[in-house]
Amino acid sequence: MSVHAEARKVTTHTLQEMKRAGEPITMLTAYDYSLAKLVDAGGVDVILVGDSASNVMAGQVTTVPITLDHMIYHAQCVQRAVDRALIVVDLPFGSYQGNSKQALDSSIRIMKEAEAHAVKLEGGSEVVESIRRILTAGIPVMGHLGLTPQSIYKFGTYTVRAKEDEEAEKLLADARLLEEAGCFALVLEKIPRELAARVAQELSIPVIGIGAGPDVDGQVLVLHDMLGITMDFSPRFLRRYLNLADSIEGAITAYCADVRSKDFPNEEESYSS
Ligand code: KIV
Repeated sequence: MSVHAEARKVTTHTLQEMKRAGEPITMLTAYDYSLAKLVDAGGVDVILVGDSASNVMAGQVTTVPITLDHMIYHAQCVQRAVDRALIVVDLPFGSYQGNSKQALDSSIRIMKEAEAHAVKLEGGSEVVESIRRILTAGIPVMGHLGLTPQSIYKFGTYTVRAKEDEEAEKLLADARLLEEAGCFALVLEKIPRELAARVAQELSIPVIGIGAGPDVDGQVLVLHDMLGITMDFSPRFLRRYLNLADSIEGAITAYCADVRSKDFPNEEESYSS
């Protein structure tokens, strides 16, 4: 029986066993109860309550404005829905960069108030002290390197990261550091596939890619992008599995037409005394 097919909840150890067995790890974002229930039922291994909620749920241009309270609210909604997947929650911008005590306090709030299973934060050597401190409390940490959207105002663009040797070397060194510090997994966002493959091969912890090519241990996408709800975002790495924007708009237009023409509700949809 494959590691994935076992009828038990996914833990950080399951993911590490999956890497050893060469079994690809599936990860998607979710931010609310109803969609998280469907994502979990669909069999995804990891649900990320991503700070991309700032974009897809709140309509913000970047992930910078979302707060710890917002993240906890989304994580609580997801947690109520999920039976099987491992729930990882993003530490939002401003909730961990101050110092390691702040990082630990924010992580404890996420674990206690949302009953999450792990936290994720962006960065390498700059945040390793915070990662170590969070781990002292027994809270699993997922790292995130490459394109780190919380630093958008430093990068200036969302283009592919680590194409030049110097940045690629820093990314490799950071990846090793995060593994040594005790991260249970690492997300690599929007970097060349060859570099991602090298990181996945060198590290013994699972490496999960988004725009990092096929030679890593798993893949993650933003749910609203892969379902075709958000249509204004079309990076090369995105595969859309549905075009829900059109279906939803079509359903709403049909509903409005039915109400306006008094076709809805009909006899069968009405109660009689
Ligand atoms: O917030 C998010 O959705 C993420 C993924 C892009 C990995 O961090």
